[in-house]
Amino acid sequence: MSILITGGAGYIGSHTCLCLLNKGYDIVVVDNLDNSSKESLVRVTEITGREIPFYEADVCDTEKVIEIIKAHNVDSVIHFAGLKAVGESVRMPLEYYENNLVSTLHLAEAMVKTGVKKLIFSSSATVYSADNEVPLTEGGRLGCTNPYGWTKYMNEQILRDVSVAHSDWSIVLLRYFNPVGAHESGKIGEDPSGIPNNLMPYVSQTAVGRREFLTVFGDDYDTPDGTGVRDYIHVMDLAEGHVAAVEYAQRFTGCDAINLGTGVGYSVLDMVKAFEEANGVKVPYKIGPRRPGDLAMVYSNPEKAERVLGWKARRNLIDMCRDIWTWQKNNPNGFKK
Ligand code: NAD
Ligand code: WQD
Repeated sequence: MSILITGGAGYIGSHTCLCLLNKGYDIVVVDNLDNSSKESLVRVTEITGREIPFYEADVCDTEKVIEIIKAHNVDSVIHFAGLKAVGESVRMPLEYYENNLVSTLHLAEAMVKTGVKKLIFSSSATVYSADNEVPLTEGGRLGCTNPYGWTKYMNEQILRDVSVAHSDWSIVLLRYFNPVGAHESGKIGEDPSGIPNNLMPYVSQTAVGRREFLTVFGDDYDTPDGTGVRDYIHVMDLAEGHVAAVEYAQRFTGCDAINLGTGVGYSVLDMVKAFEEANGVKVPYKIGPRRPGDLAMVYSNPEKAERVLGWKARRNLIDMCRDIWTWQKNNPNGFKK
């Protein structure tokens, strides 16, 4: 039996592959390398000592996915594959709806045709509408403000409908908060192409000298220091959450949405300070205007994950900042040689 990992060469996927291999699972990865490099999986093999069957293919290619499922006796699927940049999704909505929806539709079709019934889906805290109170619980109101977010919202709805039609399926919708950090070896990590949109890759690229300074997007929010507050979660904790979800899918049927966060919110300036303290480096920054669409405070109520999955984030802010820096220092140009 093996687990099919779509998008497994990407940031969260590669860390999850590592955890699954270390736990003794067999995996097979399909990724079209649209936003990743095969080198991430080479590094995972270096760390774990285990080879990873890899197919450079598009998840929208149903026949190929069916062939892979049959060849590897796949029992469960973790579906990471997708486009994920919010700003880009506003400029290219059709590409986002096409890739993120068609990949799920075709993957589910391949699962129906091969009798695979367990699916873990990468959802996002972005599915919660802006009018909820924090901390966000899974029963919160849903609604989005950009095409990327709507693709997650629509995928969740598609999968809820699939679980009604196929009552023996197990579908886990994992709503991630803000994944950051890297494996402690510094061999794999987040490798954004171009100028990073997210805070922590920008912070580490500033510290390493690739960017002159960080722009803090607004310091006039209704938060303790005026800068935006988020629930940053170490990518290795997140990866372990997927292992727990795979195990949960063995013992339940239906469709269940679960937050993966720490339950603690930190501000932009908290993150800059923690990064400087953890690593003994300076992160020059300037205060700029708010970024359109940003909320003041987003953090999770993580109780359901602990109750249902028996999983809880264990790593702290210093771990996150130290591990990002080890990755960034050892790989100033990411996976590029
Ligand atoms: P990533 O871009 O590093 O990984 C996604 C992978 O999917 C890439 O390797 C890409 O090449 C691949 N891919 C995209 N479309 C594909 C297709 N049609 N067929 C095959 N492969 C395809 O992103 P990530 O940060 O690892 O995110 C993984 C998942 O988690 C995504 O679905 C993302 O939307 C979701 N998510 C990410 C975050 C975050 O902040 N990183 C937060 C919440 C949810
Ligand atoms: C965090 C904080 C910014 C960059 C996004 C997506 C979300 C999810 C995770 C996938 C905010 C501030 C940032 C910078 C800054 N992805 N910031 N200067 O916006 O919470 O979430 O990534 O599902 O859908 O929207 O994360 O890392 O972009 O921002 O001051 O250069 O850092 O304003 O307060 P965000 P982020």
